[in-house]
Amino acid sequence: MAKAAKKIIITVDGYSSCGKSTFAKAIARELGYIYIDSGAMYRAVTLFALRRGLAGGGVADEKGILAVVPEISITFRHDPETGFPVTYLNGEMIEREIRDRQVSDNVSAVSTIAGVRARLVELQRAMGAGGGVVMDGRDIGTVVFPDAKLKIFMTASPEVRAQRRYLELMSKGLPADLEAVMRNISERDRIDSTREVSPLRQADDAVVLDNSDMTPGEQMVWFRELYKKRINEG
Ligand code: DC
Repeated sequence: MAKAAKKIIITVDGYSSCGKSTFAKAIARELGYIYIDSGAMYRAVTLFALRRGLAGGGVADEKGILAVVPEISITFRHDPETGFPVTYLNGEMIEREIRDRQVSDNVSAVSTIAGVRARLVELQRAMGAGGGVVMDGRDIGTVVFPDAKLKIFMTASPEVRAQRRYLELMSKGLPADLEAVMRNISERDRIDSTREVSPLRQADDAVVLDNSDMTPGEQMVWFRELYKKRINEG
């Protein structure tokens, strides 16, 4: 009988609105792995900070946020309907709130805080320790799991990304304006890739997936080839 493939860690990093979570969820489903959305964790901390008046207008109160980090508990619970984890902040389901504009506009400022990153990286490592995990984010292949067996770096043109994000917001019934979405995406790119701590960058051993002109099905064909090759390498 063929030996079952060892459960590895797969990292999916890249710019915002590249379709990372759609892709990461699809590969997790295919392999029977757990999907972890690390961006949701930064968004949860941002929501907490907004509620406490410690962030706003794209600015974060670093000292204030660091003081409340110990009060923040982020967990994921399996949603039997979708088969994917849903984000909870101190026991409250916040999946919808963390996708709001206000959170999107402040999350980059909150995620530049080294103490916030250190805490979330620690949690992310614990969540992925057993393998069998697909985690998406910005620094998963470079900082969180530098030894991951399979690293993917996703990219797509800014126009395609803005259009996707816009459609995603509309489909969730959230108010959206294409121009504002475009501005938010380029501002987040700028902050995410120029911040001092763990900036967004491609890991040397990551494989690039530019999905500007690819359907989800084509991306899966691409992934299966890559996965097979990597697993066969031993
Ligand atoms: O993936 P996302 O757009 O939901 O992520 C929201 C923000 O969180 C993003 O602008 C940058 C930050 N982030 C990060 O700094 N590191 C990660 N591993 C994931 C997200």
